[in-house]
Amino acid sequence: PQFSGSESPTTPAPDCAIAIDVLRATTTIATALAAGAESVQAFCTLEELMTTSEAWPADRRIRIGERGGKTVEGCDLGNSPLDCTPDRVAGKRLFMSTTNGTRALQTIQSAPVVLAAALVNRRAIVDFVLAQQPATLWMTASGWEGSFSLEDTVCAGAIISALLEKLGQDSDWFGNDEAVAALALYDQWRDRLLQLFHQASHGQRLLRLGLLEDLEYCASQDRLDVVPIQTAPAVLTRA
Ligand code: MLT
Repeated sequence: PQFSGSESPTTPAPDCAIAIDVLRATTTIATALAAGAESVQAFCTLEELMTTSEAWPADRRIRIGERGGKTVEGCDLGNSPLDCTPDRVAGKRLFMSTTNGTRALQTIQSAPVVLAAALVNRRAIVDFVLAQQPATLWMTASGWEGSFSLEDTVCAGAIISALLEKLGQDSDWFGNDEAVAALALYDQWRDRLLQLFHQASHGQRLLRLGLLEDLEYCASQDRLDVVPIQTAPAVLTRA
């Protein structure tokens, strides 16, 4: 298989595309679906979120809005995965707009298989990808407003590392420069992910907002057996 770090206009569409926003959108999506949410619909803008969710019965919807790490006024929840408990989200459709993560999902929605990954559901994603055997796999790291982010890159590295463990080191995998660098980052920090998140610029932003518990949770690996998969444009359900 070929692994690559990001979408490029000259690259043919991959068989499978994975959106990653460890802090915190894809961690929240995985957690919500594991807690029984019916689905999560991602929006770039808050206006679209509000208009579309209006048509949904109020007792079966939750609006999640985040900008700059903070909850958007008028939404039910911010983007904390820890808020997505079964009593709040089970059976509900989540309408979600966040600073970067939901945009990443919108960007890759044309691939035949689109998944949302974080560290918390890494193992489940890897098992799913191995069963599908895509010839090409893209991982799109959301970053922060278009720039590189440590936490998303290290998660891409964690996924590649687990894939290679299963495929065997002699497999004929080929990763582009970003994929190789992501793997090296993960190899260096794999036992100290929380420490890495303390150095990440968005990690520091969340810490300034008093969200250490979110950081701790987002840095934990392989705890949820859930694969969020796109079933309609930018709508994710449990595979
Ligand atoms: C984002 O989409 O930028 C994030 O998920 C921000 C956050 O809520 O921490």
